[in-house]
Amino acid sequence: MKQSFDSFLKTSRERIEQQLEYCLPASSNLPLNAALRYMTLDQGKRIRPCLVYAAAHTLGPINCDTDYVAAAVELIHCYSLIHDDLPAMDDDDLRRGRPTCHIAYDEATAILAGDALQALAFEQLTLVNTAAALTLVRELAQAAGPEGMVKGQAMDVCATNTHVDLDYLETMHLHKTGDLIVASVSMGAQSNACVDTKTLEKLRDYGRAIGLAFQVKDDLLDSEGSTAVLGKQAGADQQHNKSTYTSLLGNPGAKKKLAQLHGQAIKALEQFDERADYLRAIADFIVKRNH
Ligand code: IPE
Ligand code: IPE
Ligand code: MG
Ligand code: MG
Ligand code: MG
Repeated sequence: MKQSFDSFLKTSRERIEQQLEYCLPASSNLPLNAALRYMTLDQGKRIRPCLVYAAAHTLGPINCDTDYVAAAVELIHCYSLIHDDLPAMDDDDLRRGRPTCHIAYDEATAILAGDALQALAFEQLTLVNTAAALTLVRELAQAAGPEGMVKGQAMDVCATNTHVDLDYLETMHLHKTGDLIVASVSMGAQSNACVDTKTLEKLRDYGRAIGLAFQVKDDLLDSEGSTAVLGKQAGADQQHNKSTYTSLLGNPGAKKKLAQLHGQAIKALEQFDERADYLRAIADFIVKRNH
């Protein structure tokens, strides 16, 4: 690792911030524009863009196509948070330490802001200047769509106020959170290199393990964390009778699962040299994070 991991995170966050600023509409009197900026700029851990940059770094030099991909996945993520918080979904008032979009603005504006961010994400991918551009569009559409994140969210809605088994829960988590994380790794790798199938499969194995780990940790933080540190309401899952890893396995069981997934992620990267160290460090970050 030439650059330390902390410095890599800082650079990646600066790059994504600039790219998001480029692609969002300027402030205006329209509440929609303000809502888009409120929910997107200077917010969040930026884990998905950091994964895009780390995967790209593993195989070649980061370039402006990598920035378009990083922006695309973060825009989808921000849209998913806005809709996830809506009264008809998780009905949450607090996100990233501030009122959620529908509280700060109104419900109609929040719905439209999510719609707009999704369109902007795909617009970013049209700027990619490699032969892989269409593949990237398809990959993001599949990861975000009815066989990806939206499927997971729909399974989550169906699993609320009812008991589901572990298989159901794993499939739900793999879709609602895992698919966009897998796509971040896979699309990052393809943003600056021609990647052979075997290499891509290993990277996707890594993505699947950390994608599931990310949501297991999210469930644990909801159960054990504090609202002040999380920036979102702690205990909301139990309050809303959600099916989570902690509700099915208990906190010790969820922690064991998290450790197993971390091991799987590191193993999937076995064949890669030190250029994959940022990916390894992100796996550590995901299990150790406190928000
Ligand atoms: C929260 O994602 C939603 C989940 C998929 C669990 P993050 O924890 O990445 O949210 P931000 O972007 O850092 O706020
Ligand atoms: C959300 O999962 C996954 C998304 C696709 C947004 P959660 O509902 O657990 O995320 P938080 O806890 O509200 O961030
Ligand atoms: Mg939810
Ligand atoms: Mg939620
Ligand atoms: Mg959660």
